[in-house]
Amino acid sequence: MRTHVVIVGSGPSGLLLGQLLAGIGVETIILERSSREHVLGRVRAGVLEQGTVDLLGEAGAADRLHAQGLPHEGISLAFDGRAHRIDMSALTGGKHVTVYGQTEVTLDLMQKREAAGLVTVFETSNVALHDFDGASPFVAYDKDGATHRIDCDFIAGCDGYHGVSRKSVPEGALKTFERQYAFSWLGVLAEVPPADHELVYANHERGFALCSMRSPQRSRYYVQVPADERVEDWSDERFWDELRRRLPAQIAAAVTTGPSFEKSIAPLRSFVAEPMRFGKLFLVGDAAHIVPPTGAKGLNLAASDVRYLFAGLREFYRDRSGAGLDAYSAKALARVWKAVRFSWWMTTMLHRFPETGEFGQRIQEAELDYLVHSKAASTALAENYVGLPY
Ligand code: FAD
Ligand code: DHB
Repeated sequence: MRTHVVIVGSGPSGLLLGQLLAGIGVETIILERSSREHVLGRVRAGVLEQGTVDLLGEAGAADRLHAQGLPHEGISLAFDGRAHRIDMSALTGGKHVTVYGQTEVTLDLMQKREAAGLVTVFETSNVALHDFDGASPFVAYDKDGATHRIDCDFIAGCDGYHGVSRKSVPEGALKTFERQYAFSWLGVLAEVPPADHELVYANHERGFALCSMRSPQRSRYYVQVPADERVEDWSDERFWDELRRRLPAQIAAAVTTGPSFEKSIAPLRSFVAEPMRFGKLFLVGDAAHIVPPTGAKGLNLAASDVRYLFAGLREFYRDRSGAGLDAYSAKALARVWKAVRFSWWMTTMLHRFPETGEFGQRIQEAELDYLVHSKAASTALAENYVGLPY
């Protein structure tokens, strides 16, 4: 078998790249380790930058997003018993974010791909990348007891942090940067109206909490928990009690509780691998970098990588120029590092770090107080939150 681009991974980055390439007549085959149902069942991000929404529109996969996504013009930072609103729209010349679940983005892209009759092979195993530093790359994989081979021009490694693509690059060719945090996020989805019409990020002595949503009837909440916490130890009742204790009284009183239908724990990590290109292999999204979720940047960074790679591939297939592909890694990394910094900063400002003691706590309080009262500081947050330019 032969195709132009083999895409490893059918998460948001692989699907979005595949859809954009289909629009310019470039063929792709997506190889996915999990089942379609498993990919669609993973509850993850919920906040889309305008640039991500625009790119989904360019891919022809934004009809439902435009109809059902919730535009948000502000967020609140809660500390010291009160919520302080940051008017992101006023501070950024009218920009906003859109609340729309990653599961929905993935579903929309999958349905587009299926309607166009494009090939995704689910439940593959032993995906192996070959000769991507030479002229004739190919990808081998096992499916239903047989081994298959796809020859291609390029390989897009869209297979997340635990994928095979980054691990296929020879040792020493990548430089990695990493920071682990000593805590995780426990997240809950429930069919109840959100506590507030906008997102609330809370710094509290018991730990961070976040009030988010998926729709006016569906809430997404998170609380900071120690890294070794087990989800089995969190009944719904315990979760709701802990969440409300970490919120200002007025918001806590507005929390509608109910049975959760999803509950999971996600570790927090910052990670970057450089460069994001090795020969004919391009690393995209979580395969190349991870950010802690506090700034809502993971999915948006995956989309911005796709934007740069798509531009490079379009230049290659249309103009037979490799200049855009040569620039991919540097362009993507410049934006990645700014989001890594922003996510680290939001995480550091809003979570409890037992090891920094009372000094660290006072510094956080001073920073938050400064942030909500300084237009310059609020603007810096707003600019990053709505998404930096490409
Ligand atoms: P992924 O979504 O990870 O997709 C990679 C795909 O590749 C998967 O479908 C995987 O099954 C497949 N794959 C892996 N290995 C192989 C292989 N060897 N062969 C074939 N296929 C393979 N971001 C936020 O902004 N906010 C959040 O609240 C948030 N919560 C998160 C919670 C969790 C538990 C995780 C893991 C991430 C979260 N993120 C969040 C980050 C965000 O979801 C990611 O940045 C986003 O999913 C990146 O998309 P991707 O397509 O690059 O990678
Ligand atoms: C959500 C996740 C985030 O990481 C964030 O910063 C805001 C919202 C969410 O899942 O809704």
